Order: sequence, then C-alpha cells, then structure tokens
Amino acid sequence: MATSDPSKPALDAVPSDLLPIIRNSGALTDKQFLDVRSKVLSGAYPSDTKALADRLVRDNLLTDYQVRRFLTGKSHGLIVGKYVILDRIGSGSMGRVYKAHHQLMGRVVALKIIAPEIVTNERVVARFQREMRLVGRLDHPNVVRAFDADQSNNVLYIVMEYVAGKSLGQRLKEGVLPPVEAVGYAAQAALGLAHAHSQGIVHRDIKPSNLLVDSAKRLKVLDLGLGVLMEADEHANFATADGVAVGTVDYMSPEQACGREVDGRSDLFSLGCALYHLIAGRQAFPGSTPIERLGERINNRPTPITDHRPDVPASLVHVLDKLMATKPSDRYQTGTEAAEALQNLIRTRKSSPSSKKSEPKPEPISPEPSPTRGLAVAPPLFPSWFPPLARWVEHRPRTTLAALIAILAAWFWVGFGIAWWLKG
Ligand SMILES: Nc1ncnc2c1ncn2[C@@H]1O[C@H](COP(=O)(O)OP(=O)(O)OP(=O)(O)O)[C@@H](O)[C@H]1O
Ligand SMILES: [Mg+2]
Repeated sequence: MATSDPSKPALDAVPSDLLPIIRNSGALTDKQFLDVRSKVLSGAYPSDTKALADRLVRDNLLTDYQVRRFLTGKSHGLIVGKYVILDRIGSGSMGRVYKAHHQLMGRVVALKIIAPEIVTNERVVARFQREMRLVGRLDHPNVVRAFDADQSNNVLYIVMEYVAGKSLGQRLKEGVLPPVEAVGYAAQAALGLAHAHSQGIVHRDIKPSNLLVDSAKRLKVLDLGLGVLMEADEHANFATADGVAVGTVDYMSPEQACGREVDGRSDLFSLGCALYHLIAGRQAFPGSTPIERLGERINNRPTPITDHRPDVPASLVHVLDKLMATKPSDRYQTGTEAAEALQNLIRTRKSSPSSKKSEPKPEPISPEPSPTRGLAVAPPLFPSWFPPLARWVEHRPRTTLAALIAILAAWFWVGFGIAWWLKG
C-alpha cells in the first residue's frame, strides 16, 4: 500500500525487506528513496534483497560498504552530522577514517571519528576544539585541509580533504624508497610543517603514515592538530603515569619523549626519523621495547644510516644528522630551513654555462635503492672494519678503554724489550 503523501515514504507493504533499512539509514535522500521504491513497485528494480542491493550499487545510489552493512541488518551509523559515510578507509591509534560525502553539497571528504577512549573528559574536548580553530586556518598545498570539526551524539570528528593516494607508511610496506624520492617527499613535508608552525601548530606525531602522497606525487601532511589528543592527561589511558605519551615512539623527539615542552623543531626531528626509515627500512633508534627505543633517542645517536645503506652520500647523512640532532638548538631551526637543505640535495644544476660556474654542485643522491644491502656504491670513507670498532669503543666506559690501552701499551713494550734483548 502506497502512502497518500508522496513526500513521506511509507514503510508498509514495500516488496523488499531492504527498503526499510535503507530508509532508516538516511543514506538516500527522501526523493532518491521514493524513486527507488516506485521502481521496485513497478518491477523496474528487482524485489529480491540481494539482487536489489547489487542493482543499487551498480546505479551508484549506494556503495558496496553501505550495502554490506544493510545486508547484515544494520541501518544505523552511516550519518555523522551532515555527512553520509560511503566507505571505511582505515583506522589508526586515534580512531577510524571514512570516506564520506556532504548530504547537501555532495563534496567527498575524509572523516575521522576520534576513538571514544581518547575523549575521556571535557578538557580533551576543549583542547581539541582550541586546536581545531587553529587548524581551520591552515591553507597550504602540503597540508591536508581540515574543513570542519564537530561533535555529534558524543562522537568527536574531524572532516578533511580526501586525498586519493597512499601514505608513506603504506609505501614502506612495499619496500624502501629511492633516496631521491624520499628526500623530495621530506622537503615537501618540511614546507607543510613550516606553514603549520607559522600558525602556532606543532604536529607532534610526524611519521610515514601521517604523510599522504597523491597521484601527482604531492605530499600532504595529515593529522595536524590531533597531536594535542596525545598530550599527557591524567585520565588518558594511553599515556604513562609520568606523563609521557606512548603512541608511536619511533619518531618522537628526545624532548617529547621526556614530556618536555615541544616546538616546531621537535617535528623536524620526527621528520628526520621518518626519512631515515623510508630510506633504510629500519628505525633510526632501534630497540626491542618502546621504553628502550625512547631511551635510545634520549641518550644515544641514531645507528649510522650507512650501516643499512652504504650508498647514502655524505651530504644526505649530514642533513639527517642535523634533523635528528639531540638538542633542538643543533637542528634546523625552521621547516623552511630544513626544506631548503633537503631540496639542495636533489636540486639539479641549471644547464646554462654561467650558472654552472657560480652554483655549488650538490652531491647527487642515488636515484634507486641499492639492490642488495651492504653493496657499497659511494667510495667508503673508512675501511669496513672501522665503523663497528668505533661503535664498540663508543659504548664502553672510559675506565675499560683506559685499561685496554694500558694493556696494549704494556704488550708493545714487552715485545719491544724482547726484540731488543734477542738482538743484543
Ligand atoms: N584525508 C585523508 N584522505 C585519504 N586517506 C586518509 C585521510 N586521512 C587518513 N587517511 C587514511 O586512513 C587510514 C587511517 O589513518 P589514521 O590517521 O587513522 O591512521 P594512522 O596514521 O596509521 O595512525 P594514527 O591514528 O596514529 O595517525 C590511513 O590509511 C590513512 O592513509
Ligand atoms: Mg594518521
């Protein structure tokens, strides 16, 4: 039985049990729903549940993701504020990310729903809202734009530009990146960070999975402003009791690891760790537990990248060292400065003969990763036995080294004495 008011779609007497679920979900506008229903009634659309679902996907009225939910009887959860969820993109430590579209404007966006266990109290919400006000001002080609941030049914969410592409975290799963490509991405990230820093925002969670690359190889920094959710909070169950956030520790600066105040230079340290990981396929500060890895960055220098990639040129080693300097004052002081240093590594010399004379020649970076680890492309600075010996010495206490030198000296003098005695 059809309803007498065509603007109010009736639920009764519809020939498919899928229609009430679709209607309740809000995934279709009233007009779209009425259209679908009349097609089902007239026989233009199949009334069999599965066949109808397939047809609606084929006609781009519903997505696979939506239909999968409807077929399991779920009609709720597809509407967040003014947005209709189209697909699930993925999830991370802070929540789930969905592809969605604005009900009225149709704009496709990425919608991140913050996990409820992170939104523990009003202070977290206030901190989030404060940061979102700053994030809303960001407008830079290397930053994922935030369009909206709100709370709906106690769910905190952020609406962002949807970037069709891959994160560098996903790229890493396919293997290490050619240094020249990784450096190019890091330079773009540094420019995006410089913009965020100039607006008073520190990212606090720079890592390969927060660096998205679109189909035109443009890098966009993701999750700006969400770092505040990781800040120590006595009620947050993902922070340790002494106030050190333990989200991802692998890219964290020493000052952040110690729970100290951070500024943009902390993001540059994290960018250095991310760049190292992209090129070496290993962490700069290894360790078997998060605490061990935190300790490493506070007390030690990164494992030399040439241990994993001997082909990395000294100029890149130098830039990495400066990005990952223990003291913020020893690092590049701004994102712009870091971007320039990174760009200089890959900048090709201008072809005109006059510019050839005046411009210093940057040391070129190998465009491809070496096929085998340990294959030396660049002439080594030291013999191969020297770096492990130097590292061994670096990690011994001074007294042990002094004793060792004394024993060696004693052997030398005994040998010298014996030789002199035999000769005499
Ligand atoms: N604006 C966006 N456009 C397209 N894909 C996105 C967007 N934001 C996030 N994603 C993707 O969604 C997935 C989950 O992202 P999310 O940031 O939640 O995870 P993460 O970075 O691995 O962890 P974390 O929560 O610690 O940041 C990732 O695959 C990411 O690339
Ligand atoms: Mg992320």
